[in-house]
Amino acid sequence: MTSLAPDPRPRPDLPPGLERLRGHIVVIKFGGHAMVDQGLSRTFARDVVRLRQAGVHPVVVHGGGPQISAQLDRVGLRSTFTAGLRVTTPEVMEVVRMVLAGQVQRQLVGLLNEHGPFAVGLTGEDAKTVTAVKRYAQVGGERVDIGLVGDVSKVDPGALHSLIRDGRIPVVSSVACGEEDPAYNVNADATAAALAVALRARLLVVLTDVAGLYADWPDTRQVIGQLTAGQLERLLPTLSGGMTPKMEGCLRAVRGGVPVVHVLDGRVPHTLLLHAFGPAAATGTATAGTGATAGTRIVPGP
Ligand SMILES: Nc1ncnc2c1ncn2[C@@H]1O[C@H](COP(=O)(O)OP(=O)(O)OP(=O)(O)O)[C@@H](O)[C@H]1O
Ligand SMILES: [Mg+2]
Repeated sequence: MTSLAPDPRPRPDLPPGLERLRGHIVVIKFGGHAMVDQGLSRTFARDVVRLRQAGVHPVVVHGGGPQISAQLDRVGLRSTFTAGLRVTTPEVMEVVRMVLAGQVQRQLVGLLNEHGPFAVGLTGEDAKTVTAVKRYAQVGGERVDIGLVGDVSKVDPGALHSLIRDGRIPVVSSVACGEEDPAYNVNADATAAALAVALRARLLVVLTDVAGLYADWPDTRQVIGQLTAGQLERLLPTLSGGMTPKMEGCLRAVRGGVPVVHVLDGRVPHTLLLHAFGPAAATGTATAGTGATAGTRIVPGP
């Protein structure tokens, strides 16, 4: 059996951004939109295992927007988005849970486990890891009911810590226990952020299908290289689509004590190792902004 123990010896060969995170938890959100290509998913899985083998403790949270939409189409259910969140009827919720936990999570677990018995999949319902309360969307100052969509209200990281201690890589689907309803569909960025805070992660990496946060969306010429939490908070009301919950999550993570969040282009192979663990990530110098693939970095500050 493959050894789960990371090599404890110093590794001068590792990039400094990786070396300084050895022994620490990092949460990596793999967006459903970045996951449509099997080759990219395989590369991602290999990179996550490399982190693990270097002594970092990765926790993976995955999305599944396109995969859920495809299955809803197949079964003839329609769903819409309000403020970047999927309106979730009980019928849609069944599909969400089935696709996330039964399809997307299984695929990622399988790809990670091609390298050894590392990955264990769970949803926020398992061991009551994530609890949520009903969330309403805000549209033009109005509160809109979007069904079984939840906002994380509580995280119990016990099961995740056990898995991490055991040398495993938890792979979490963003379905949560409900306080009023049986289960909630939670945006995966929000789940990743809440887990990063509860696990005292040293880093949150969000892999998506764009080069980062564009300054003037839908114009894609300029990526914002770095933002402080304060700058991001002021920008939030101007954002749209999936970027709204994503950036809310990033803000929540940094305000909750995660020292840095990287939003990276998951369509670029090895972007995780290159940009979240490379030399620039270690020194804090913003390569971001100078090259499209370095993404957007969010750090504490006014
Ligand atoms: N300012 C912006 N900069 C970049 N992307 C933006 C911006 N505003 C809106 N977007 C949209 O946000 C999308 C990313 O969020 P989305 O929720 O669609 O993907 P994801 O979170 O990576 O995947 P999933 O939701 O399946 O986990 C981009 O593809 C783009 O269409
Ligand atoms: Mg999203």
